[in-house]
Amino acid sequence: MFQTAGMTDVTKPLPGAAFGATVRLGADIPGDLPAMLDDAGGLLLLPGQHEISDRPDRLVDLSRAFGPEVEDYRFTLANPASVHASVPEIFIVSNLPPVSKMPPKRPEPPLTPDGRFPVQYPQRRGWHTDQSYRRPPPDVSLFYAVTPVARDRGQTLFASGILAYEALPAALKARVERLEGIHAQPGTGRSREAVLRGEAPKPCKPHERPQRQPVVRVHPTTGRRALYLCERSQMDWFDGPFVGMEPGPFGEGARLLDALMTHYTRPEFIYVHEWTQGDVLVWDNRCLVHTATWYDAEKEQRMMWRTTVRGNPGALYAGEKRSWIPEEVAAE
Ligand SMILES: [Fe+2]
Repeated sequence: MFQTAGMTDVTKPLPGAAFGATVRLGADIPGDLPAMLDDAGGLLLLPGQHEISDRPDRLVDLSRAFGPEVEDYRFTLANPASVHASVPEIFIVSNLPPVSKMPPKRPEPPLTPDGRFPVQYPQRRGWHTDQSYRRPPPDVSLFYAVTPVARDRGQTLFASGILAYEALPAALKARVERLEGIHAQPGTGRSREAVLRGEAPKPCKPHERPQRQPVVRVHPTTGRRALYLCERSQMDWFDGPFVGMEPGPFGEGARLLDALMTHYTRPEFIYVHEWTQGDVLVWDNRCLVHTATWYDAEKEQRMMWRTTVRGNPGALYAGEKRSWIPEEVAAE
């Protein structure tokens, strides 16, 4: 543990992980939070932020510390039921109506062969980086536990793309160096399941089209390289998952994606977060993937608030228009 200026306690790394930090904040929001995030490999736990439940604008203030723009969900085609009524920068993730978002299924089998909580793909599913089907993609997400479920379920899992990239065998590193993934928004008809059912690709409006992203992403402030990709559910299975590689569920691209995701989510690159009321987690989407886990949505109530910070995606995206805004809206 060490102290920084302004009485902020920082403990590194996060328990059981090789990256991340716990930051105990006072009343003030220190200006060096982005440097702490970079220094911790892209993941910060800010415990004890209970006052956000009564003062949701505090979550927006905290978010502003991490970048120039906190996304206003009224203007991003989000389902209005998921947007906080008085603070539209907050996206609600909950199994309660009207949001009614259900948790993912339990892995099958529920434990690893040696009896552990499964983290590695493909036994653990859902690994993604937020909104990678947009260009430019967002930088940072914050997630606040208003009402988490009991421990041992409803966790959020993180994998470090920096550690995973650094540990790639040389041949695989060379293979992905200039490769691009094709990322698709779930629900736009580009899924692996749609291909397997023999469906034709649905016509996509320009703002719904899949987007290319580098598989190796260079962080704009640290210069560190990280693997940047998602598992099956957020890739394009008609033209992808990779540019210039045999497409579809049984192609060369599918085999590479499986190999990369299995490597990315090796247990030594993982942090498992067990939620406590009042926790804020801050993660850098440019260098981490994450996934949700099962809880009993019939018996338990979960309420979480998310914000998204954008505006520093790196030189690769300089000057790009937002891919996800329809032209008629962008013109207004
Ligand atoms: Fe997410």
